[in-house]
Amino acid sequence: MRRTSGLFIGFLVGGACASWLDFGIPHSNATVDVRVFNVANATLLNDAHTFILPVLPGHEDAIFPMFAFLVEHKKSQKRLMFDLGIRKDPLNLAPSVASFFTSGGVLLEQSKDITELLQDGGISLASIDEVIWSHVHFDHIGDMSKFPNSTGLVIGSETDTTTYPEFPNATLQTSDFAGHKVTKIDFAAANLTFSGMKAVDYFGDGSLYLLNTPGHLPGHLSALARVTPTSFIALGGDTFHHVGEARPRPQFQKNFPCPAHLLEEAKTSISTDYFWSPRSRDGAFDMLSRSQQLFAVSDLPDSFYANPVTSQVSLEKLATFDADPDILVLIAHDISLRSSIPYYPAYLNDWKASNFKERTVWSFVEKTNPASVFTPISSNRTAN
Ligand SMILES: *[C@@H]1O[C@H](CO)[C@@H](O)[C@H](O)[C@H]1NC(C)=O
Ligand SMILES: *[C@@H]1O[C@H](CO)[C@@H](O)[C@H](O)[C@H]1NC(C)=O
Ligand SMILES: *[C@@H]1O[C@H](CO)[C@@H](O)[C@H](O)[C@H]1NC(C)=O
Ligand SMILES: *[C@@H]1O[C@H](CO)[C@@H](O)[C@H](O)[C@H]1NC(C)=O
Ligand SMILES: *[C@@H]1O[C@H](CO)[C@@H](O)[C@H](O)[C@H]1NC(C)=O
Ligand SMILES: *[C@@H]1O[C@H](CO)[C@@H](O)[C@H](O)[C@H]1NC(C)=O
Repeated sequence: MRRTSGLFIGFLVGGACASWLDFGIPHSNATVDVRVFNVANATLLNDAHTFILPVLPGHEDAIFPMFAFLVEHKKSQKRLMFDLGIRKDPLNLAPSVASFFTSGGVLLEQSKDITELLQDGGISLASIDEVIWSHVHFDHIGDMSKFPNSTGLVIGSETDTTTYPEFPNATLQTSDFAGHKVTKIDFAAANLTFSGMKAVDYFGDGSLYLLNTPGHLPGHLSALARVTPTSFIALGGDTFHHVGEARPRPQFQKNFPCPAHLLEEAKTSISTDYFWSPRSRDGAFDMLSRSQQLFAVSDLPDSFYANPVTSQVSLEKLATFDADPDILVLIAHDISLRSSIPYYPAYLNDWKASNFKERTVWSFVEKTNPASVFTPISSNRTAN
């Protein structure tokens, strides 16, 4: 036993068994630096069902942060943003989207645009070479008119780029594009595929890949940043919204054993009236024997996922990364990490050495975590 495990460790140190190689990710020593901002907290009243199912009594609101990522390629001195969060004056969005805010359905906690957060942090806007939009929803596109014309825009080629006022119902407007060079990523021409996702090598050196993750909106893309030669951060955008849509799955359970105190907590923080597990007994949820994610992508008529079936497939692919010890998956609205992720100016590059994933990956079942929405609570509100 001892001898075989020694051999196994030897393989791991040599990198021969690294699972990211099995995904098809090539070797490289080129890396990027990744840092994160939370631009705003949003509460979408009575909208949780447009993202996840099931929605339990008392958890009808969707509450989430809006992460925006600064990605720096030191070798070429290039700086990118992956998503921008929402602009602080949402009434100035295209009318079809602004109406969302005049109706009172969204509560926002935000004082600054990402452009101000960057400048406050000593990052000049002129130094941002490109902004990558994972997709064109209002809570990702920021306000491009605040960036200089020299900042380019990168989008998936399937993205709906129609703008207001030419198209009265468009969700984008002329000012989102004016002056900016737009690059469309065409995954059909990509010759790399990682765990089923078409990938484009952005800098041509293996430091940053863009991944085709359609479904939430046409043209939706994700990114895979190599932050050390052998560890990665996947920026998942809105491929999914709650980590319970990805966790737990068998490979995840295997690579990230649930800590004993959280197995105990899950017995009561997860309602057996809504979630099944083979070894649940007497109303106590058994996390160990659960081999399926807790939440499904919403497929209700008012789902925020434009194509729930395709979304689920993209989610399955990204979930293989989520189960991997060398890849940290960060979705744009991961409320489970809102209070634990190190924000700018901290770098996320050392997430693996600092055991960040092991420390946080199960926090969504902790009763005190805002992501813990697995048991009904009494609510005074009348559902509508
Ligand atoms: C990365 O660097 C190591 C150590 O210098 C070297 O052995 C290896 O060949 C390099 N790998 C690539 C893909 O350049
Ligand atoms: C979001 O909420 C967290 C937790 O309450 C808080 O610390 C943070 O300041 C809020 N962020 C914004 C932009 O309001
Ligand atoms: C566009 O907006 C008008 C009203 O502003 C509405 O009647 C129409 O149904 C909308 N069309 C689409 C395709 O959403
Ligand atoms: C930026 O682009 C806009 C729209 O094309 C143009 O009107 C403006 O003059 C440009 N600004 C600069 C400083 O080049
Ligand atoms: C893959 O595509 C890139 C970019 O188009 C190209 O430079 C590279 O040669 C291609 N590789 C193969 C093996 O076809
Ligand atoms: C909800 O109802 C209970 C019982 O009537 C009351 O004590 C409590 O203050 C209410 N909470 C809110 C937020 O209105």
